[in-house]
Amino acid sequence: MALKLENDMTASRRAMKDYVNAYHINEVVFTRNTTEALNIVASGISWKPDDVILVSDKEHNSNFLPWFRLQEMGVKLQVIPSGSDGRFSIDNWASAIRETKPRLIAFFLTSNLDGETSPAAEVCHLAKQHGALSCLDAAQGAAHMPLDVQEIGCDFMGVSIHKMCGPTGMGILWGKLEELRKLKPIITGGGTVIQVTYDEVKLLDPPRRFEAGLQNYAGIVGVKYAADYIKSIGLDIIHKHEVELNCHLQEQLMQMPDVKIIGPKNPEDRGGITSMTVEGCNVHDLALIMDEMSHIMLRAGFHCVHGWFNSHGIDGTLRVSTYLYNTKDEIDVFVKTLREVLREE
Ligand SMILES: Cc1ncc(COP(=O)(O)O)c(C=O)c1O
Repeated sequence: MALKLENDMTASRRAMKDYVNAYHINEVVFTRNTTEALNIVASGISWKPDDVILVSDKEHNSNFLPWFRLQEMGVKLQVIPSGSDGRFSIDNWASAIRETKPRLIAFFLTSNLDGETSPAAEVCHLAKQHGALSCLDAAQGAAHMPLDVQEIGCDFMGVSIHKMCGPTGMGILWGKLEELRKLKPIITGGGTVIQVTYDEVKLLDPPRRFEAGLQNYAGIVGVKYAADYIKSIGLDIIHKHEVELNCHLQEQLMQMPDVKIIGPKNPEDRGGITSMTVEGCNVHDLALIMDEMSHIMLRAGFHCVHGWFNSHGIDGTLRVSTYLYNTKDEIDVFVKTLREVLREE
């Protein structure tokens, strides 16, 4: 590989090592997205029948399906319910970890359904005390809050670079080096070996053993620029801005009796997300109408968290997702348009 490209790859790996405060640069594996990162972990562990995996009831399909599939091998999957307030319940997790002695727990850092951030460090430390591995889905959280894998104490984590203002089709798997070494790569081939004979294959140490074949080099080079850009603005500033927008939005939504916000009541606890149902309205229709009227990009539906919606009998939500580029004026356009649709103006 050309030296310049090799150096650029190393610079991107180092940028993400610093971004998540990894122990070592070789703990950063380039992937296509968070989904691939989580699949590498789920399919890479040598599972035994009756191993237990715990997940929350609010997982994105990308952090549910890879574990769900392992049941074909006799692995037991248990879904830990949220508390009666709909929030991540540390009590439910603590008793489930004590009772089931799981091999691994997997859960979200920030939920894309309602913006809640889990008490990740507390749960991962509990898991560790009981000998379980922990795998964090940080797709939604990584672009919104400072991340420190050493402080959180997890073993694996998936991150979406394309949600960090980076190139599309890029993500990373972070894993502790000793745990990455135990994973069996799901894709093998060129670029992953030290030596091959007709009788034996010796794989390179992580991360390269997981990066088989020609890679998305344009995307990989872009990783550093995305990480640097976000750091140059500051995750604390981004979080503060999102909270301001959430508060501004919530103040106005509270005056609309047909609107019900799903998830944490305190706008400070919802990242950049405000997910809602609107009495008497189909959320898909609403999103389309509001796009046509005011060019607002909204997401409506199950947001890839089908399990939660099906178990609650809710037919989807309308989701406002704000980030560093959104403004209070845009929030006002959203509210004004929604009022017009509901004929409140
Ligand atoms: C919480 C959460 N997990 C996982 C994913 C999947 O991320 P990716 O598209 O990078 O695989 C998303 C994407 O929306 C997400 O919000």
